[in-house]
Amino acid sequence: HTPPLRGSLPPEVALALRRGMATRICSPYAVTMPPMNDLAGKHIVLGLTGGIACYKAAELCRALIKAGATVQVVMTQAAEQFITPVTMQALSNRTVYGSQWDAREPNNMPHINLSREADAIVIAPCSADFMVKLVHGGADDLLSLMCLARPIDKVPLLLAPAMNREMWAHPATQRNMAQLSADGATILGVGSGFQACGETGDGRMLEPQELLEDIVAFFSPKLLAGQHVLVTAGPTFEAIDPIRGITNHSSGKMGFAITRAAREAGAQVTLVAGPVSLPTPRGVQRVNVKSAREMLAASVDAAQTATVFVATAAVADWRPATQANHKIKKDGSGQAPLLQFTENPDILHTIAQGERARSGQLFCVGFAAESQDLVNNAQAKRARKGIPLLVGNIGPLTFGQDDNEMLLVDAAGVQPLPRAPKLVLARKLIAEIARRMRAAA
Ligand code: C5P
Repeated sequence: HTPPLRGSLPPEVALALRRGMATRICSPYAVTMPPMNDLAGKHIVLGLTGGIACYKAAELCRALIKAGATVQVVMTQAAEQFITPVTMQALSNRTVYGSQWDAREPNNMPHINLSREADAIVIAPCSADFMVKLVHGGADDLLSLMCLARPIDKVPLLLAPAMNREMWAHPATQRNMAQLSADGATILGVGSGFQACGETGDGRMLEPQELLEDIVAFFSPKLLAGQHVLVTAGPTFEAIDPIRGITNHSSGKMGFAITRAAREAGAQVTLVAGPVSLPTPRGVQRVNVKSAREMLAASVDAAQTATVFVATAAVADWRPATQANHKIKKDGSGQAPLLQFTENPDILHTIAQGERARSGQLFCVGFAAESQDLVNNAQAKRARKGIPLLVGNIGPLTFGQDDNEMLLVDAAGVQPLPRAPKLVLARKLIAEIARRMRAAA
């Protein structure tokens, strides 16, 4: 049986399908896409106001539903100039509300009924004009009426602004945003780049996946509130000459998933990333490095204020002893150049032996990728590195994969975390770190 091939499949996947092979498809985006049920049980009112970004709200609606939420769409008249209620009804599988005079509600009070059942109201896109209404408590259309009528302590309001860069930068808009924050709304921020008007700058609505990531984070328990988490991720690249170098197969997926989970848990997060092309999780400060020594410098710097350090990076053990200034050429003699290597610094060990870690201000977590005898190897490594918690995994079963299985090793013993998507494991690990830090406090 040959399944029909779609044009955009990566060649190796297309080939595997053509051969009828069962194949595990690993997506570099998978750890940034929440697993299916991150919003299970949540009921979101998705409000659309007038702006060209309404077309992205259609995708956001789908993403929320795929994440397990139920979605009630409410549109302003201006929004209906940009996208039809039919589209939003089809995507949300519910009739769309647009008028405060909607007689479908037996009590004729859609603003009360719809706001009372919501876990959050998300306005995406939120126009500059709609912000003005919110600031002043205006209520001359259903959506603003709902925002005003919502129980302010029970139904959070999340805003995804979208407008031209000049409108965004205008002091009036910035003033309104500050006021809305002070009134308790969560401003999800804006993107930067090409705008529909042809100009380039800040003010674009965030992409649907970014908004989804922020909404999932909003609902996550804030287990690491007030903490600063430092994560190293990915491989390092050790240059031989300006053209070549040695590196390894680490994809960075686990470290990026931990970064995202830490941010969801309310921590300030610094991600020191080796050369990987994964997108940066939302709300995280990323420092890109190449070599182990660069990674050490960036990590030591961030560790001065960090309270948690999770070392997931697959740091190269050795680097070429010298780096040639120019490409090393074949000289026709048939002789290969002889490379000599020097040992790289151990970043985790260095930081774990530092003052902050030893005085209990910095909780250090290491990873061990083994190929056999995981328990003994992991326990020995934890002792060698001088750290309270080490995560063991089998290297060939994790590199490049979207899921993994892990063993948590600490002074009390070992605790297996069964195979699951890396983001799920990352969230469990963050909860375990938070639990241990609370116990130690
Ligand atoms: O010694 P080994 O490389 O097996 O230890 C793995 C752990 O140590 C991982 O947490 C890794 O990020 C960290 N490490 C490091 N610097 C090195 C080597 C490993 O931070 N040079």
